[in-house]
Amino acid sequence: MRPTYPVAELLGDGIGAELSRAVHRLAEALPVRLEFIPVDISLENRRARGKLLYDEAVEAIHAARVALKHPTTTAEESPNAVLRRRLNLSVIHRPVYTIPGVPTNFRRELDLDIVRIATGGTYDDPGRLIGEDGAVSLRIVERQPVTQAARYAFNLARKTGKRVTSSSKYTIQRATDGLFEQITKEVAGQFPEVNHSVELFDAMLGKVIMAPEKFQIVLVLNEYGDFLSDMACGLAGSLGIGASANLGFDASAVVRVALFDAAHGTAPDIAGKNLANPTAIFLALSLLLYQLGEIAVGQAVKNATLELLRQGVRTPDLGGQETTESFTDAVAAGVARHNPLHANEPEG
Ligand code: NAI
Repeated sequence: MRPTYPVAELLGDGIGAELSRAVHRLAEALPVRLEFIPVDISLENRRARGKLLYDEAVEAIHAARVALKHPTTTAEESPNAVLRRRLNLSVIHRPVYTIPGVPTNFRRELDLDIVRIATGGTYDDPGRLIGEDGAVSLRIVERQPVTQAARYAFNLARKTGKRVTSSSKYTIQRATDGLFEQITKEVAGQFPEVNHSVELFDAMLGKVIMAPEKFQIVLVLNEYGDFLSDMACGLAGSLGIGASANLGFDASAVVRVALFDAAHGTAPDIAGKNLANPTAIFLALSLLLYQLGEIAVGQAVKNATLELLRQGVRTPDLGGQETTESFTDAVAAGVARHNPLHANEPEG
C-alpha cells in the first residue's frame, strides 16, 4: 500500500484551477498517496465568507500540518499575509538555482537555499516622521525566530551535507545583527559536523556573483533575505518559476506547519487557456514531499520537471509549445521513470 499523507490544498484564483488539476494528475503518478483537503480561498469565496473561511483554512492546515497554496488575487487583503500571521509562519525557505533551459543573463551556476527570518528586521515597524525633516524606524531581532530559522538551516545542512553561511552587518548593527550572529553561533554549536561561516552581507552579495559555488545554505534576517532572494532569482532567471516553504514552529523549534507556494501570481491574462506553466507549483510540491520525509519522491518530481525543461519540453512562457496538460503528462511519465519500482502500485 502506498503511504498516505493528508495535504491541505488552498484553491485560489486565475490559473489556480488549472494548476490544481495538474497537481492532482501528477500526484496520481507518485509512489505515495496525497489526500488533498481542499479549501477554496478564491476572491469570490473570501468576499462571501470572510473570517470564517480563514478559520477553516487555518484549521485544515493545522490538521494536515502541510499545505499547498495556489496563487490568489490580492484585493482587500493579502491572503498570504493573513495566513502567515494566523499560522505564525516565521521562516521562509526559498531554494534558488540555475535551471538549464531557462534563459538568464548570468553565465555561472547558482544553487542557493535561502533561509530567511520572515518577521522583524525593519519590516514590523512602519516608522514615523520626526517633524518634517527626519524619520526613524525600529529594527527588531528576536531570539525565538532566529533560533527557529537557524535550527531549520542547520538541520537542512545535516540532511543534505551542505554548508551554512550566516550573513548580516554585525560590525555596524552591533546590537541587532550581533544578537543574530550570536544566536546562530549557539545553534551551530549543536551541529558540530556542519560547516558554518559568517559573511558581511554587502560583501556576500558581491561574492555570490563572483563565486556562487562558495554558497549553499544562506541564513539571513528578514530584509536581507528579501533582497538576496530577488537578486538570486534574477541571476538564475527564475523569478516566476521558483517556489518557497513558509514554516511555523513549535516550542522546541521543530516545524509544526509548512505552507508551500509558487512565486508567481494568478496570471489572469492566460487563465483558463491551458497555457499555465506548472513548473513552480510542481517545485512547491517537491518541497512539500521533502517536508513529509519523502526525499526521494520529492527529488523525482524536481528532477523530472527540470529534465524536461532542459530537453526543451516547455510551455509558451519559456518559448515552448506544450500545454499545461501535455507538460504535466510528461512530468508524470518522467516521475514514473524515476521511481520505476513504486509508481502506480496497485492499492491494497
Ligand atoms: P503574475 O505572476 O500573475 O503574472 C505576471 C506575468 O507572468 C503574466 O504575463 C503571466 O501570464 C505570467 N505568468 C505568471 N505565472 C505564470 C505561469 N505559471 N505560467 C505562465 N505564465 C505565467 O503577476 P501579476 O500580473 O503582477 O499579478 C496578477 C495577480 O496575481 C494579482 O492579483 C496579484 O495580486 C496576484 N499575485 C498573487 C501571488 C500569490 O498568491 N502568491 C503572488 C503574486 C501576485
